[in-house]
Amino acid sequence: MKKIFFYIAVLIALNSTAQSTITLQADKGQDIINKNIYGHFAEHLGHCIYGGFYIGDNNKKIPNKDGIRLDVVEALKKLKVPVLRWPGGCFADTYHWKDGIGPKDKRPSMLNVWWGNVKEDNSFGTNEFLNMCELLGAEPYLSGNIGSGSPQELSDWVKYTNHPNGSSPMPELRSQNGRPNPWKVKYWGIGNEAWGCGGNMRPEYYANIYRQYVTFMSDGGNRLFRIASGANGGDYNWTEVLMRDIPLNMIDAVGVHHYSVIDWNKKSSATLFSEEEYYTTMQRALQMEELVTRHSAVMDKYDPKKKIAIAVDEWGGWYDVEPGTNPGFLFQQNTMRDAIIAGTTLNIFNNHCDRVRMANLAQIINVLQSVILTNEEKILLTPTYHVMEMYNVHQDATLLPISVTSADYKMGKEKIKAISASASKDKNGITHISLVNIDANAAQEVSINVNGANYQSVTGRILSSDKLQNYNSFENPEKIKPGVYNSATLSGNSLKMKLPPFSVVVLELK
Ligand code: AHR
Repeated sequence: MKKIFFYIAVLIALNSTAQSTITLQADKGQDIINKNIYGHFAEHLGHCIYGGFYIGDNNKKIPNKDGIRLDVVEALKKLKVPVLRWPGGCFADTYHWKDGIGPKDKRPSMLNVWWGNVKEDNSFGTNEFLNMCELLGAEPYLSGNIGSGSPQELSDWVKYTNHPNGSSPMPELRSQNGRPNPWKVKYWGIGNEAWGCGGNMRPEYYANIYRQYVTFMSDGGNRLFRIASGANGGDYNWTEVLMRDIPLNMIDAVGVHHYSVIDWNKKSSATLFSEEEYYTTMQRALQMEELVTRHSAVMDKYDPKKKIAIAVDEWGGWYDVEPGTNPGFLFQQNTMRDAIIAGTTLNIFNNHCDRVRMANLAQIINVLQSVILTNEEKILLTPTYHVMEMYNVHQDATLLPISVTSADYKMGKEKIKAISASASKDKNGITHISLVNIDANAAQEVSINVNGANYQSVTGRILSSDKLQNYNSFENPEKIKPGVYNSATLSGNSLKMKLPPFSVVVLELK
């Protein structure tokens, strides 16, 4: 008998519905959600570049332009990728860009010591990357090598990419390599994870090095946006030292890296995970709120007008690699858990857009929390892709303030807020609200009270699935894809809806 009561209690818990309330200030928008929050990251790691973007110049099986996969380009154009960071990551501080230009048969090879000790033949280099960005319509973000490079090498890279034709030997070299006009690269990273793989530096030392390198980056008439290698998660002292020791006219953004990892020594499977593991991953993802708040507060002391941005230039979920794949290639599947991380994290970035003005999901293809997976000629779009696509309505829109009183999602003695949300108004006056129900079991009834607008209609899209562990496979690539959401009802200034467990919804209000 006791057992029956227990099962009934579990069933009730599993099918329960909780209540949450949101207040939207539809006429109080101030800050713009910089489209670069929806940025991406591509490293010379595993099959991100080789096999992901680039398949070589002689591939007859997969449609391509100069070796760049056209199926990938088409899918990424729909995402509206605003900015793409390259060539690393840890790889960046081992990369010597001059090895990757000129005739391909003359380019020297190197060992990719960070990622699998595989041969890097440098067939994909500066020209290939920057031309690819043009194809994608994305701004390039180049990560400079300050760990094993030199100020001269970085200075030359800026000249090669940005200086006008005929002005000095570097633009001359660019012309010889078939590109007379500069690409005018705006975004530059001064090293990567300088506290770790980028040189194991102390913040004071890095701040000095930063000043030295930046001094020799002459912009050639196009103002550069210089991004300092940021803190490891919650190392607030790192940010403090950079803000204190680098003159504000020498820096445009400070980086922050944060991965949602259960335990670096036991990351667990990307697909075979328990609800407890999901819960821990979400606790890690939600730490982003505290990280951006506290790094921004440190910056406020030196930069109260928030001229210097935060660039969260690496973020995402990190699990064990798929069984049978090279451990150095970081290839992982992507489930509804990743969709929930993406929706929640992007809401945090939107809501902090006064300071967070760039973010780069790690990484775009075949590595960590990717939006695309490829296998030879096959390609699939992950649940994370769909969230990025649904959310791209927020790019360059005006953030609308919201306050959320959310039901709790509990696990043992722990609790997190079940509902994450953000809202914006685009250039055409259309409002979008993105909502995530993080709760793995309970549906959420959400009431939205609107102040300052009289909406006449509501439509929506939803990403959901019947199992948290579901993913798109090469055999079933469209198992998870956005659908029409018509469970929101508008009555006067009040909107009511029900969000299924672990779902992501974007509403459009006119
Ligand atoms: O994204 C994978 C790696 O994670 C990057 O190379 C490095 O910057 C970070 O530690």
